[in-house]
Amino acid sequence: MNNIDSITNLYPRKERSLLGSRYNRSDRERENKHILLSFANSIQERDIVTYDHSRRVATYAQRLARFVGWSRRDARDLALAALVHDLGKTWIANDILLKADTLSDEERKTMERHPLIGARILIGCDVHPFYVETVLYHHEAWDGRGYPSGLKGEEIPLSARILTVADVYDVLTSQRPYKAPLSKDAARERLLSGSGASFDPMIVRAFLSLLDSQAHFTLPQRLCAIPSTTKTTYHAASPVGL
Ligand SMILES: [Fe+2]
Repeated sequence: MNNIDSITNLYPRKERSLLGSRYNRSDRERENKHILLSFANSIQERDIVTYDHSRRVATYAQRLARFVGWSRRDARDLALAALVHDLGKTWIANDILLKADTLSDEERKTMERHPLIGARILIGCDVHPFYVETVLYHHEAWDGRGYPSGLKGEEIPLSARILTVADVYDVLTSQRPYKAPLSKDAARERLLSGSGASFDPMIVRAFLSLLDSQAHFTLPQRLCAIPSTTKTTYHAASPVGL
């Protein structure tokens, strides 16, 4: 499997989620979970910022999936996919992955390969296509201007459309070397302005309803380690039931 076409042919543009499938949720499910959590651990070792981000995104995606009516089990499967959505970044060189300045065009193209790299790794481990698709398509945009495939609207798996909104909300509300975190209200406005362009309008509506219904919706960032004489405070987001 050497190019993007071979992956997108394997995972055609249609909904293929665990929802309603006859997926055997016993040994195979345990095996998938074990593989995905192992990859989540490898992300933690490689890049703690991406790992913390992924945990918060998993929690947001799980809450959102439940809010739009997914079963507890399906929402948990989405959280597992979310934990490894940036797995491909573990193969991006540090000078690009950790760069504090704006990326050059060439560097941006390299960075934009991460959904494809992550999907290839998961295909190699024979995990269920639901996880592969969710990772592969989490940077697609509702208007077709996303990557890697330029899927449009409902061609994008619903799992990936949910994940995209959860992902972007966390990026907006997080501190990065190149930006300050946005407030909940400012992030809300940004999601609203991208509704119908970057994001599925139905998913944005649901997310904003969820956001508005909870005063303390935004998860805390990982705090910097405090010197060893003082107890380290660490607020981790925890997806439920993983
Ligand atoms: Fe990503």
